[in-house]
Parts: sequence; structure tokens; C-alpha cells
Amino acid sequence: MAGEVDLLFYAITTLSLLFSLGVVVAIVYFAVKYRRNSRADRTGAALIHGSLKLELSWIIIPLFLALGIFLWSAWLYFRLYTPPADSFDIYVTGKQWMWKFQHPTGQREINTLHVPVNRPIRLIMTSQDVIHSFYVPAFRIKQDVIPGRVTVAWFEATETGDFHLFCAEYCGSLHSEMIGQVIVMDPSDYEAWLGGAGTVAVGPGESLAEGGELLFNRLGCSGCHRPDGTGVGPSLVGVFGSQVKLESGEVVTADEAYMVDSILNPNAQIVAGYDPIMPTFEGVVDEQELLRLVAYLKSIGQEAETTEEGGDQGTQP
Ligand code: CUA
Repeated sequence: MAGEVDLLFYAITTLSLLFSLGVVVAIVYFAVKYRRNSRADRTGAALIHGSLKLELSWIIIPLFLALGIFLWSAWLYFRLYTPPADSFDIYVTGKQWMWKFQHPTGQREINTLHVPVNRPIRLIMTSQDVIHSFYVPAFRIKQDVIPGRVTVAWFEATETGDFHLFCAEYCGSLHSEMIGQVIVMDPSDYEAWLGGAGTVAVGPGESLAEGGELLFNRLGCSGCHRPDGTGVGPSLVGVFGSQVKLESGEVVTADEAYMVDSILNPNAQIVAGYDPIMPTFEGVVDEQELLRLVAYLKSIGQEAETTEEGGDQGTQP
């Protein structure tokens, strides 16, 4: 996307320069022409009492220019902020003052993110303390990372190499040290890196979703959210990615943000047919555990289900 963002940026800059140039030239020209004691004609024939043509042109031309910029920017913006369906998920936690990354296969790293080249990468991000901002200038992405919320950004690196990662939101005394790098690798190198030394897995041979499943059982979630739907809470099998009907009559999409909201603030959105009895897990699970739980709920979500058993429980609350 970098080339497209730059093209838009240069187009707007060029347009601004052209208009600024026109204004400056007019200022200088009139300042000289009508300076004090100049012999310019200030009355009579040179006086214009309005021109419909002139007025219409300075309304209509800028109108179309501005609308053109708006449409162009909006078209680019929606593509910049809509991750492709086949993207590869990385879980990001910001905290004072470091970036923590968790790969779906369980590898964890700090301030360095290894990714394969030519593959859309989706970042599922949250913060452990204050607002941070995930900023990789080379990829032209910047996204706030907010405590108690999940935000998403994506990129597809088209070249291998190391790229700077910054925190772009003032987050405390060591904000300027909250930096790192994104290392873009050939897919084969990335596979080797995933299996190699220098990385820390969540547990021995444990993927992110498996780590989440352990937590799901340990925290007692599985007691109420039984897979067969006989618990006091709704079954969560096949829920991720589906439309959930709420007690309020509203229908929401069960995405990452919904899952996190439901864990931290369970009574805000009650699933239709259930009682508001779930306690909050705010302060009980930390952000990295939260993302692990989300990874697990995703693994038992709609897509996983249809590939596993071909079952059709998509409408289940
Ligand atoms: Cu984190 Cu600035």
C-alpha cells in the first residue's frame, strides 16, 4: 500500500502548492501594483462589480477537486483498514514500555516481530496499561492500541528486510524507547525461525489456542460454557465469526472485540435467552491470556467447525 499512500500524499501536496503559489503571486502582484503613491487606477474602468462566471468557477472547480480527494482517500482508507480474509494472525500486547508478540503456533517475542514476506498479516492488538500506538512507517500503518479493547491492523510486506517499529502515542517517561523492528523473511526462513532456537513457546509444544484451552478449563469457563449447550452459559462452539442475537434484540458479529468485551464486561451484551450471571474477568486474566483465550475461541469457531465435522450450528447463540 505504501506506493498508493504516497501517490495520494504527493497529489494533495502538489495541489496545495499550486493553490498556495497562486495566492502568494497574487499577494505580491497586488502589493506592488497598489502600493502607496503608485499611479494605479483605483476608480472607474478598472472597477469590477461582480462576475457570475468567476464566482461559479471558484465554487465548482474546488468542489470537484475536494470531492475527488475525498473519494480517492476513502477508497484507499477502506482497503488499508480491511484485512483480507486469508490473512495470518499475530497477537500484539502493548505495555509500558515494550511490544509483546504471540504467534498462533505459540512463539512469543518482545520488540521484534518476525513475519513471512508476501503474506497478509493481521495484528490483533490490545494494551495492558495505557494507550499506545503501533506504527510502522515503511508499511504506512499506524493504529492505536487501547486497554480493555481490541484493535486490528494489517499489512503485507513485499520485500524482505528489517523495518522500524515505533510507539506513536506518548505513553510515559520511556515512550521514546518503546521501539522495535519488524523482520520480514522468506517463507522458508520464517518456517525455520518458527521451529528454531531463540523463540519461547507458551509451553512445551503448545500453540496459542491450546494455551487458551488450558486457561478456559482452569478459569472454570468450561463449567458454564459447555460445548453441548447444557451449561448455564451458551456453548461457544461455532460462535466465533457468527451473528449473535442479544437479549436486547440487537444482533452483533462475534469478532475478537466482542469476545474480549464479553470476558471483561460480560453483562454489557447478554446473549438472548441467558441470565446476566457471568462475573467479569477483568484483573483476573492479563492481556496476553486474554488474547490466548480469543485464539482458542476462534479455533472452535465457525470455520474450524465446518472443516472438522461439517456440523451446522452457526445460528447457535
Ligand atoms: Cu507506548 Cu508510547
